[in-house]
Amino acid sequence: MSSESPHDPRRACIQQLESDLFLGAKALPLDRAKVPQPVSLAAAPDESRIPPNTMTAQQKRQAMDALEEQVKACQKCPLSQTRTNTVFCRGNPGAELVFVGEAPGYYEDQQGLAFVGRAGKLLDDIITKGMGLSPDDVYICNVLKCRPPSNRDPGSTEMVSCLPYLERQLEIISPKVICCLGRIASQCLLETRAPMKELRGQWHTYRGLRTMVTYHPAYLLRNPADKKKSWLDIQQVMAELGLKRPKTA
Ligand code: URA
Repeated sequence: MSSESPHDPRRACIQQLESDLFLGAKALPLDRAKVPQPVSLAAAPDESRIPPNTMTAQQKRQAMDALEEQVKACQKCPLSQTRTNTVFCRGNPGAELVFVGEAPGYYEDQQGLAFVGRAGKLLDDIITKGMGLSPDDVYICNVLKCRPPSNRDPGSTEMVSCLPYLERQLEIISPKVICCLGRIASQCLLETRAPMKELRGQWHTYRGLRTMVTYHPAYLLRNPADKKKSWLDIQQVMAELGLKRPKTA
């Protein structure tokens, strides 16, 4: 959502005008109540922005627990019929850094925890050996909370059904940095169809939050030569968070 978002009042104005003109309006409506009020682009209040966090750690945990209960009961899409467990997250809701992946795989579905398979082991190595953090210093979650059968790509209806849960997770945490892992998470959060080669290694904005895009660890397992590029992306995240490179990395 780099420049426009569904919550953006400017976009709402533009959509109203476009639909009026599409429906045959020759001029702007006279009913003042319907006239989109002028918006100063310089000082436009962006209601989509996630406000800086004021919740205590305990309030965050309570809000997350309540949300997780909703996810556990979710029947919004057919993946609810095939899942073993919902997979809400792993890590710390008080974290400054949130990693967002795609969807649970086999091991995640079995255990009900995000990134616990081979890709998760690589992500943990990035966090511990690369960044010098503990997995408990970060928050890890996915776009989808249920495993797509045979680990196929998430469908668009599944993503639309599930996205509000991720949006709420990010609102509760209001992290300093989001790191999108792979194409699905990046395209979904940033509302773009741009390919990874254009998205990765760049700072983007998701509802006012600094957002980095890097490769998915499962992709890195298949394409280890790209680990170098991923490390460059992670170093940008570390610089943004003021983290020093551990001596062993
Ligand atoms: N891949 C993901 O995107 N998420 C997981 O939780 C596991 C594998």
